Amino acid sequence: MKREEFSKVNKEIKHPAKIALAIVKDKDDKYNMITLEWFMRTSIKPPMLAISIGHTRYSHECLQNFRFFNLCFPDIEMTEVAKLCGSKSGREIDKFAETGVKWFPGRLAKLPILKEAKANFECKIVTQVKSGDHTIFVGEVKHSWLNSSKEVQTVADLI
Ligand SMILES: Cc1cc2nc3c(=O)[nH]c(=O)nc-3n(C[C@H](O)[C@H](O)[C@H](O)COP(=O)(O)O)c2cc1C
Repeated sequence: MKREEFSKVNKEIKHPAKIALAIVKDKDDKYNMITLEWFMRTSIKPPMLAISIGHTRYSHECLQNFRFFNLCFPDIEMTEVAKLCGSKSGREIDKFAETGVKWFPGRLAKLPILKEAKANFECKIVTQVKSGDHTIFVGEVKHSWLNSSKEVQTVADLI
């Protein structure tokens, strides 16, 4: 065991990490998607999920304004969707139009449920905390959707 820089140690232990897409809505009612590696379950009863969003992201602005998100676990075949949503900003493009993902409205806040994903969780934001240059938004899961035949995607699939 040797003492090392945080970034070096973190790089070695982070794979395989699942990725997710958070689906949000802007003030003009346009939907946006952001690729995430930083998310976690934070409560059993009620079920809660937390996502960590950089202050510069367009999705951060959306979440401050519209207090719901869907956390979606893309299928392994959605690699191009995850790449685009993790490299382009909703400030510049319409990621739903660009990717052509198929969706239907959820039950909670009518945010899109991605049809081809492994799973979708509809969340209502109950609290948030600033964490350096990110904000952790904690959402209570209100509805969960599953496609048993699909496979989750990891960060390694994007490389
Ligand atoms: C694999 C991967 C994981 C990422 N994880 C996060 C994350 O957890 N939090 C975050 O704020 N940005 C994360 N990003 C960066 C955003 O997805 C990226 O900046 C995106 O273009 C922001 O979109 P927006 O401006 O439309 O919100 C990740 C990107 C990739 C490729």
